[in-house]
Amino acid sequence: MENFTFHNPTKLIFGKGQLEQLKNELPQYGNKVLLVYGGGSIKRNGLYDNVLSLLKEIDAEVFELAGVEPNPRVSTARKGIEICKNEGIDVLLAVGGGSVIDCTKAIAAGAKYDGDVWDFMTRKAVAKEALPFGTVLTLAATGSEMNAGSVITNWETNEKFGWGSGATFPKFSILDPVHTYSVPKDQTIYGIVDMMSHVLEHYFHHVQNTPLQDRWCESILKTVMEAGPKLVEDLENYELRETILYCGTMALNGMVNMGYRGDWATHNIEHAVSAVYDIPHGGGLAIIFPNWMKYNLDVNVSRFKQLAERVFDVDPTGKSERDVALEGIEKLREFWNSIGAPARLADYEIGDDQLEVMAEKTVIFGEFGNFKKLNKEDTQEILRASL
Ligand code: NZQ
Ligand code: ZN
Repeated sequence: MENFTFHNPTKLIFGKGQLEQLKNELPQYGNKVLLVYGGGSIKRNGLYDNVLSLLKEIDAEVFELAGVEPNPRVSTARKGIEICKNEGIDVLLAVGGGSVIDCTKAIAAGAKYDGDVWDFMTRKAVAKEALPFGTVLTLAATGSEMNAGSVITNWETNEKFGWGSGATFPKFSILDPVHTYSVPKDQTIYGIVDMMSHVLEHYFHHVQNTPLQDRWCESILKTVMEAGPKLVEDLENYELRETILYCGTMALNGMVNMGYRGDWATHNIEHAVSAVYDIPHGGGLAIIFPNWMKYNLDVNVSRFKQLAERVFDVDPTGKSERDVALEGIEKLREFWNSIGAPARLADYEIGDDQLEVMAEKTVIFGEFGNFKKLNKEDTQEILRASL
C-alpha cells in the first residue's frame, strides 16, 4: 500500500423513512435554502411535496433551481450561483441523481468564488470553500452523494470535466431505497454499469499488497452482479434497491481505494464521448470499458486473470493466463449485455466521424490513466474498437 489519510466528512443517513432527518440536519446550516432538482422526476414521484412539507415544518425560506440536466451544464450552475449570491443563500439541498448533486457542488463552490465557476473544471482554480449542502439521493450510480467529485459539461465548448476539492463533500446525504423505486429500467441499468465501472477503475493499479482492497472491490462487483439482474426485472423490490444503493455509495466514497490510486482512463474517454454526443454516462462506460481492458491486457495480465477467476468464476484449468484474463473480459461484456446495457457506439448512432475530436478532448490536460498512460492515438484505437 501507499501511505494514506482517509477522511470522508459526509454524514450518511440510510434507510426507509430517513427523509425526516432533514429536519435535524438542514437547520444546522441556516434558514435560507436553495432547493436544486432535475427535470421533474421528483414531482412525479411525490418526493418534491414531501421535501417541501418538511422544509415548511422547519420554517425554511426556500428558493428553487429546477431543470438540472442529465450531464449537468455549467450554464445551469451559473444560474444557481446567481441565486445564491443575490439572495444570500445559507445552505443548498440537492434532490436527485448524480447530475443534480454535481451541479449543486458547482453552485456551492461557485457561490464562494469571485471568478467564473468554469475555472474549477478547467483547473485554473481550486475550490477552497463552498456553501454547505446536503443531498437526498434518488438514483444509485455515481457515488456523488458521498464524495467530493463533480462532473460538469460546457455545451458551448463541448467539454465535460471532473473536478472537486476537500470543500465539496456533502455535509449529509439521505438515502432511502424507496426514493429510487421510480428510476426507469434504462437508468437503473446505467447506474449498475457506472458503479461496477468505479470499482473496475479502482481495480487496475500497480501498487503492491492491497489484498483487503481487492476483496472489497471483488465483493462489490459480485454483489452488484447478483442483485442487479434481479432488480432490472423487479424495480420496486426494496431489498434489491437497498443493496444496489449501498453498493453505489461504497464504490466511490474512498473506502475501497485507501492506499492506492486506480486508473480512471475509461471515465476520461467516456466524458469526452458525452461531451460531444450527450449520451448517458453508464451507457458510454458499458461500451468503452471492455475495450479499454482488451487494449491494456498485457500491461499486467495477472491482474485481469485475478478478476476473471474471482469475480467471473472463470475456470483456469488448462488455460494460459492470458486466455483466462480474456475470458473474464468477455464475461463482463456478456453480463452487461444480459442486463440490457449498450455494447457499441453504434447503439447511440455514433459513427467514426468525430473520433479524432473526442480523442483530442481526452488529452486536454495531458496523457491520462494511471494503470497505463494513454495518449490521443490510444484513445482513438479504443474508440475505434468501440464503434
Ligand atoms: O432530471 P430528473 O427529472 O430528476 O430525471 C433523472 C434523469 O433524467 C432521472 N432520475 C433520477 N432519479 C430518478 C429519476 N427518474 C425517476 N425516478 C427517480 N428516482 O434519471 C435521469 C438521469 O439522472 P442523472 O442524475 O443524470 O444520473 P446519474 O446519477 O447517473 O448521474 C450522471 C452524471 O454524474 C456524472 C456523470 O458523468 C453524469 O454527468 N458522474 C459523477 C460522478 C461523481 N460526482 O462522483 C462520478 C461518475 O463517474 C460520473 O461521471
Ligand atoms: Zn462513473
